[in-house]
Amino acid sequence: MNKADIVTELRKAMEFYRELGFDFLPLKGDVPVGPECARVPAGNAHTAPVADAGDPCPDRQGSLVSLRDEIGDCRRCRLWQGRKNIVFGEGNSCAKLMFIGEGPGRDEDIQARPFVGSAGKLLTSLITKLGLKREDVYIANIVKCRPPGNRNPEVDEISTCIPFVEKQIDIISPQVIVCLGKISAQALLRSSIPISRMRGSFFHFRTIPVMPTFHPAYLLRNPKDKWLTWEDMQKVLEKIR
Ligand code: URA
Repeated sequence: MNKADIVTELRKAMEFYRELGFDFLPLKGDVPVGPECARVPAGNAHTAPVADAGDPCPDRQGSLVSLRDEIGDCRRCRLWQGRKNIVFGEGNSCAKLMFIGEGPGRDEDIQARPFVGSAGKLLTSLITKLGLKREDVYIANIVKCRPPGNRNPEVDEISTCIPFVEKQIDIISPQVIVCLGKISAQALLRSSIPISRMRGSFFHFRTIPVMPTFHPAYLLRNPKDKWLTWEDMQKVLEKIR
Protein backbone atom coordinates (compact mmCIF):
# COMPACT_ATOMS: atom_id res chain seq x y z
CA MET A 1 0.00 0.00 0.00
CA ASN A 2 1.38 3.42 -0.88
CA LYS A 3 1.21 6.51 1.31
CA ALA A 4 -1.90 7.95 -0.41
CA ASP A 5 -3.81 4.66 0.04
CA ILE A 6 -2.85 4.52 3.70
CA VAL A 7 -4.12 8.08 4.22
CA THR A 8 -7.39 7.24 2.42
CA GLU A 9 -7.89 4.12 4.54
CA LEU A 10 -7.10 6.02 7.73
CA ARG A 11 -9.58 8.75 6.79
CA LYS A 12 -12.29 6.13 6.13
CA ALA A 13 -11.60 4.48 9.49
CA MET A 14 -11.76 7.79 11.32
CA GLU A 15 -15.03 8.73 9.62
CA PHE A 16 -16.42 5.36 10.62
CA TYR A 17 -15.53 5.94 14.27
CA ARG A 18 -16.83 9.50 14.20
CA GLU A 19 -20.18 8.18 12.99
CA LEU A 20 -20.16 5.84 16.00
CA GLY A 21 -19.90 8.88 18.24
CA PHE A 22 -16.22 8.72 19.17
CA ASP A 23 -14.59 12.10 19.27
CA PHE A 24 -11.02 10.84 19.02
CA LEU A 25 -8.95 7.71 18.56
CA PRO A 26 -7.16 6.19 21.56
CA LEU A 27 -3.36 6.27 21.52
CA LYS A 28 -2.90 3.00 23.36
CA GLY A 29 -2.53 -0.11 21.22
CA ASP A 30 -4.94 -2.24 23.25
CA VAL A 31 -8.15 -1.18 21.53
CA PRO A 32 -9.09 -3.05 18.40
CA VAL A 33 -9.20 -0.66 15.50
CA GLY A 34 -9.83 -1.61 11.91
CA PRO A 35 -11.40 -4.90 10.88
CA GLU A 36 -11.85 -6.38 14.38
CA CYS A 37 -14.04 -3.50 15.47
CA ALA A 38 -15.52 -2.66 12.11
CA ARG A 39 -16.68 -6.21 11.53
CA VAL A 40 -19.48 -6.03 14.06
CA PRO A 41 -21.64 -3.17 12.80
CA ALA A 42 -21.09 -4.32 9.24
CA GLY A 43 -22.05 -7.92 9.95
CA ASN A 44 -25.06 -9.82 11.25
CA ALA A 45 -25.28 -8.06 14.57
CA HIS A 46 -25.92 -4.79 12.78
CA THR A 47 -28.95 -6.02 10.92
CA ALA A 48 -30.38 -8.83 13.01
CA PRO A 49 -32.87 -7.66 15.66
CA VAL A 50 -32.20 -9.18 19.06
CA ALA A 51 -35.84 -10.12 19.61
CA ASP A 52 -37.90 -11.99 17.08
CA ALA A 53 -40.69 -9.62 16.08
CA GLY A 54 -42.97 -12.57 15.28
CA ASP A 55 -42.75 -13.98 18.80
CA PRO A 56 -44.58 -11.79 21.32
CA CYS A 57 -43.77 -14.14 24.26
CA PRO A 58 -47.24 -13.71 25.78
CA ASP A 59 -46.42 -15.83 28.85
CA ARG A 60 -43.43 -13.71 29.73
CA GLN A 61 -45.41 -10.52 29.27
CA GLY A 62 -48.11 -11.87 31.59
CA SER A 63 -45.53 -12.85 34.20
CA LEU A 64 -44.03 -9.37 34.08
CA VAL A 65 -47.47 -7.84 34.64
CA SER A 66 -48.00 -10.17 37.62
CA LEU A 67 -44.61 -9.20 39.02
CA ARG A 68 -45.48 -5.52 38.68
CA ASP A 69 -48.73 -6.24 40.57
CA GLU A 70 -46.76 -8.01 43.30
CA ILE A 71 -44.57 -4.92 43.76
CA GLY A 72 -47.72 -2.79 44.11
CA ASP A 73 -47.31 0.58 45.83
CA CYS A 74 -44.06 -0.68 47.38
CA ARG A 75 -42.99 0.58 50.81
CA ARG A 76 -40.60 -2.25 51.58
CA CYS A 77 -37.66 0.15 52.05
CA ARG A 78 -37.30 3.89 52.75
CA LEU A 79 -36.90 4.86 49.08
CA TRP A 80 -40.67 5.09 48.66
CA GLN A 81 -40.65 8.33 50.66
CA GLY A 82 -38.90 10.39 48.00
CA ARG A 83 -40.06 8.75 44.81
CA LYS A 84 -42.68 9.98 42.37
CA ASN A 85 -42.92 6.67 40.52
CA ILE A 86 -41.74 3.11 40.70
CA VAL A 87 -39.55 2.48 37.64
CA PHE A 88 -40.28 -1.16 36.94
CA GLY A 89 -38.28 -1.58 33.72
CA GLU A 90 -39.26 -1.81 30.10
CA GLY A 91 -38.51 -3.48 26.84
CA ASN A 92 -38.98 -6.69 24.98
CA SER A 93 -40.06 -9.63 27.09
CA CYS A 94 -38.37 -11.89 24.50
CA ALA A 95 -35.12 -9.91 24.69
CA LYS A 96 -31.87 -11.77 24.29
CA LEU A 97 -30.03 -8.83 25.79
CA MET A 98 -30.87 -7.22 29.13
CA PHE A 99 -29.28 -4.08 30.56
CA ILE A 100 -29.32 -3.51 34.31
CA GLY A 101 -28.52 -0.10 35.73
CA GLU A 102 -28.30 1.14 39.27
CA GLY A 103 -31.50 3.01 40.02
CA PRO A 104 -33.72 5.70 38.56
CA GLY A 105 -32.55 9.29 38.42
CA ARG A 106 -34.69 12.41 38.34
CA ASP A 107 -35.97 12.03 34.76
CA GLU A 108 -36.66 8.34 35.20
CA ASP A 109 -38.56 9.01 38.44
CA ILE A 110 -40.74 11.59 36.68
CA GLN A 111 -41.39 9.49 33.58
CA ALA A 112 -41.52 6.08 35.31
CA ARG A 113 -39.17 4.74 32.63
CA PRO A 114 -35.55 3.56 32.96
CA PHE A 115 -32.68 5.40 31.32
CA VAL A 116 -34.51 8.33 29.75
CA GLY A 117 -32.26 11.16 31.05
CA SER A 118 -28.85 12.13 29.72
CA ALA A 119 -27.24 8.80 30.67
CA GLY A 120 -30.22 7.10 29.04
CA LYS A 121 -29.68 9.01 25.82
CA LEU A 122 -26.11 7.72 25.71
CA LEU A 123 -27.32 4.17 26.41
CA THR A 124 -29.95 4.44 23.66
CA SER A 125 -27.32 5.72 21.25
CA LEU A 126 -25.00 2.82 22.16
CA ILE A 127 -27.83 0.34 21.56
CA THR A 128 -28.54 1.94 18.18
CA LYS A 129 -24.87 1.90 17.21
CA LEU A 130 -24.84 -1.81 17.93
CA GLY A 131 -27.49 -2.19 15.25
CA LEU A 132 -30.34 -2.75 17.72
CA LYS A 133 -33.35 -0.79 18.88
CA ARG A 134 -34.30 0.02 22.45
CA GLU A 135 -37.45 -2.03 21.89
CA ASP A 136 -35.32 -5.11 21.13
CA VAL A 137 -33.71 -5.20 24.57
CA TYR A 138 -34.97 -5.10 28.14
CA ILE A 139 -33.80 -2.38 30.52
CA ALA A 140 -34.17 -2.45 34.31
CA ASN A 141 -32.39 -1.31 37.44
CA ILE A 142 -31.17 -2.87 40.69
CA VAL A 143 -33.49 -0.58 42.70
CA LYS A 144 -36.80 0.59 41.34
CA CYS A 145 -37.16 3.86 43.25
CA ARG A 146 -34.98 6.95 42.97
CA PRO A 147 -32.49 7.34 45.81
CA PRO A 148 -32.75 10.93 47.14
CA GLY A 149 -30.40 13.31 45.34
CA ASN A 150 -29.23 10.42 43.15
CA ARG A 151 -27.08 9.00 45.95
CA ASN A 152 -25.99 5.38 45.64
CA PRO A 153 -28.60 2.91 46.88
CA GLU A 154 -27.71 1.55 50.31
CA VAL A 155 -27.05 -2.11 51.06
CA ASP A 156 -30.43 -2.75 52.72
CA GLU A 157 -32.27 -0.96 49.88
CA ILE A 158 -30.47 -3.16 47.36
CA SER A 159 -31.17 -6.36 49.25
CA THR A 160 -34.85 -5.45 49.56
CA CYS A 161 -35.28 -4.65 45.87
CA ILE A 162 -32.90 -7.02 44.10
CA PRO A 163 -35.26 -10.04 44.24
CA PHE A 164 -37.53 -8.18 41.81
CA VAL A 165 -34.91 -7.63 39.13
CA GLU A 166 -33.83 -11.22 39.63
CA LYS A 167 -37.41 -12.31 38.96
CA GLN A 168 -37.40 -10.14 35.83
CA ILE A 169 -34.25 -11.96 34.72
CA ASP A 170 -35.91 -15.33 35.39
CA ILE A 171 -38.96 -14.33 33.36
CA ILE A 172 -37.12 -12.79 30.41
CA SER A 173 -34.34 -15.36 30.46
CA PRO A 174 -31.97 -13.27 28.34
CA GLN A 175 -28.93 -14.78 26.65
CA VAL A 176 -26.68 -12.07 28.05
CA ILE A 177 -26.97 -9.46 30.81
CA VAL A 178 -25.01 -6.21 30.72
CA CYS A 179 -24.50 -4.64 34.14
CA LEU A 180 -24.08 -0.89 33.84
CA GLY A 181 -21.69 0.34 36.49
CA LYS A 182 -20.27 -0.76 39.79
CA ILE A 183 -23.48 -0.85 41.83
CA SER A 184 -25.26 -3.04 39.31
CA ALA A 185 -22.36 -5.44 38.73
CA GLN A 186 -21.39 -5.79 42.37
CA ALA A 187 -25.00 -6.28 43.50
CA LEU A 188 -26.01 -8.81 40.87
CA LEU A 189 -22.75 -10.76 41.09
CA ARG A 190 -22.38 -10.44 44.89
CA SER A 191 -18.88 -9.16 44.32
CA SER A 192 -16.71 -6.37 45.64
CA ILE A 193 -14.30 -6.31 42.69
CA PRO A 194 -13.96 -2.77 41.29
CA ILE A 195 -15.78 -2.18 38.00
CA SER A 196 -12.50 -1.24 36.32
CA ARG A 197 -11.31 -4.82 36.94
CA MET A 198 -14.62 -6.57 36.28
CA ARG A 199 -15.43 -4.91 32.98
CA GLY A 200 -14.53 -6.70 29.80
CA SER A 201 -14.88 -10.24 31.16
CA PHE A 202 -17.93 -12.44 31.44
CA PHE A 203 -19.23 -13.52 34.83
CA HIS A 204 -22.39 -15.53 35.49
CA PHE A 205 -25.71 -14.92 37.15
CA ARG A 206 -27.08 -18.43 37.58
CA THR A 207 -26.23 -19.74 34.10
CA ILE A 208 -26.54 -16.44 32.25
CA PRO A 209 -23.34 -14.69 31.10
CA VAL A 210 -23.02 -11.21 32.60
CA MET A 211 -20.82 -8.50 31.14
CA PRO A 212 -20.06 -5.67 33.56
CA THR A 213 -19.24 -2.40 31.86
CA PHE A 214 -19.05 1.28 32.69
CA HIS A 215 -22.22 3.17 33.57
CA PRO A 216 -23.26 5.64 30.84
CA ALA A 217 -23.20 8.48 33.41
CA TYR A 218 -19.52 7.67 34.01
CA LEU A 219 -18.92 7.67 30.26
CA LEU A 220 -20.50 11.12 29.99
CA ARG A 221 -17.88 12.32 32.46
CA ASN A 222 -15.08 10.23 30.95
CA PRO A 223 -15.76 10.02 27.20
CA LYS A 224 -12.30 8.61 26.52
CA ASP A 225 -13.49 5.35 28.13
CA LYS A 226 -16.35 4.92 25.65
CA TRP A 227 -13.92 2.75 23.71
CA LEU A 228 -13.75 0.25 26.51
CA THR A 229 -17.52 -0.09 26.74
CA TRP A 230 -17.62 -0.40 22.95
CA GLU A 231 -15.11 -3.27 23.22
CA ASP A 232 -17.18 -4.92 25.97
CA MET A 233 -20.27 -4.71 23.79
CA GLN A 234 -18.50 -6.42 20.88
CA LYS A 235 -17.98 -9.42 23.16
CA VAL A 236 -21.66 -9.31 24.12
CA LEU A 237 -22.73 -9.25 20.47
CA GLU A 238 -20.50 -12.25 19.75
CA LYS A 239 -22.36 -14.17 22.49
CA ILE A 240 -25.87 -13.42 21.28
CA ARG A 241 -25.17 -14.03 17.61
N1 URA B 1 -29.03 5.56 35.90
C1 URA B 1 -29.39 4.29 36.20
O1 URA B 1 -28.62 3.53 36.77
N2 URA B 1 -30.62 3.92 35.85
C2 URA B 1 -31.48 4.69 35.22
O2 URA B 1 -32.59 4.25 34.93
C3 URA B 1 -31.07 6.00 34.91
C4 URA B 1 -29.84 6.42 35.26
